[in-house]
Amino acid sequence: MGFGKIGQTFSALEIHQIVKEDLRRVEEEIRLESIASVDTVTAITRHLQAGGGKRLRPTLLLLSCRLFRDPDEMAIRLGAVVEMVHTATLVHDDVIDVAGTRRGRASTNTVWGNHTSVLAGDWLYMQAFQMALKERNFRVLDLLISLTQLMVEGEVLQLERIGNMSLTENDYMDLVDRKTASLFSVCAKLGAIVGHASEEEENRLGHFAWNLGMAFQLVDDILDFTASESVLGKPVGNDLREGKVTLPLIYALERGTAVERAMVETVLKTGDYAAVPFKQILDFANSSKGIERARARAQVFTETAREIIANFPDSQTQRALAAVTELITDRDH
Ligand code: IPE
Ligand code: IPE
Ligand code: MG
Ligand code: MG
Repeated sequence: MGFGKIGQTFSALEIHQIVKEDLRRVEEEIRLESIASVDTVTAITRHLQAGGGKRLRPTLLLLSCRLFRDPDEMAIRLGAVVEMVHTATLVHDDVIDVAGTRRGRASTNTVWGNHTSVLAGDWLYMQAFQMALKERNFRVLDLLISLTQLMVEGEVLQLERIGNMSLTENDYMDLVDRKTASLFSVCAKLGAIVGHASEEEENRLGHFAWNLGMAFQLVDDILDFTASESVLGKPVGNDLREGKVTLPLIYALERGTAVERAMVETVLKTGDYAAVPFKQILDFANSSKGIERARARAQVFTETAREIIANFPDSQTQRALAAVTELITDRDH
């Protein structure tokens, strides 16, 4: 598990110990299920798996399950399913965002081109659904399919809003809910389902993970400003270049002067940092407290998540889930 900072704290170590063996089995499941009858597709799925990634979604699912019982084969399989759904969205997302790197290596679209990448993403979605289908559990399928539609709708909405400087905080939150928080929520719910939790427990865990997901995307959008590409493993300054006005800028623009607004508008219009260097945008996001306020907003989601998980009975797993909450806001990639 490559959480970066995770390795440095005791809680992080705890999380790692709890799910290490489960995640090993998830990786094996992904490996076995990533073989297509066309070699190019297999090459792409191998490339994606070898790229690593934090495996946050299966971790969330497995820890949620472990709150109630040890993961069985179904839990492991669903861990692989959510990671594959996530990976499929990343493949499509990088085509849409014209991103050249992912997980510290060339993105799929860079190596195989857009057309093949879109199809590989489709293949991954369908493979994930096939795997979920093996469980013959309609509730699980319903959650996964509704989720995928929600995420795709989120990406479409995001496209419609490309280049829109008057995006509000509410518009932004709606996008984050769809494209990120909903998957986090489903991971926790699936974990609760395979753990045979009550419906009430499942909903509470879903709510916990939803808040976690909101915080996670806010931090991702902050990192797009503040991180270095080598640590992040994907481009920085990419959101604005691609016409995405995210929370740090929404807040910054609220206090920006006409000159500063014009600066942002120039990048949105030209789609590059030739006329206005990224550093200038970053300075604006900082000086207008955009970054600081977005961090504070992420913290509110984190706090809510922490309160929800605190109400579960004390156990090693419950403490691990609380620790995940901390790590998400503190991460550097
Ligand atoms: C990236 O997710 C997409 C977002 C929701 C921001 P992750 O940051 O979890 O990506 P990997 O799986 O670790 O590469
Ligand atoms: C999250 O959006 C992508 C999905 C949930 C599909 P981003 O566009 O911010 O993700 P990154 O930054 O490329 O990982
Ligand atoms: Mg992207
Ligand atoms: Mg991003």
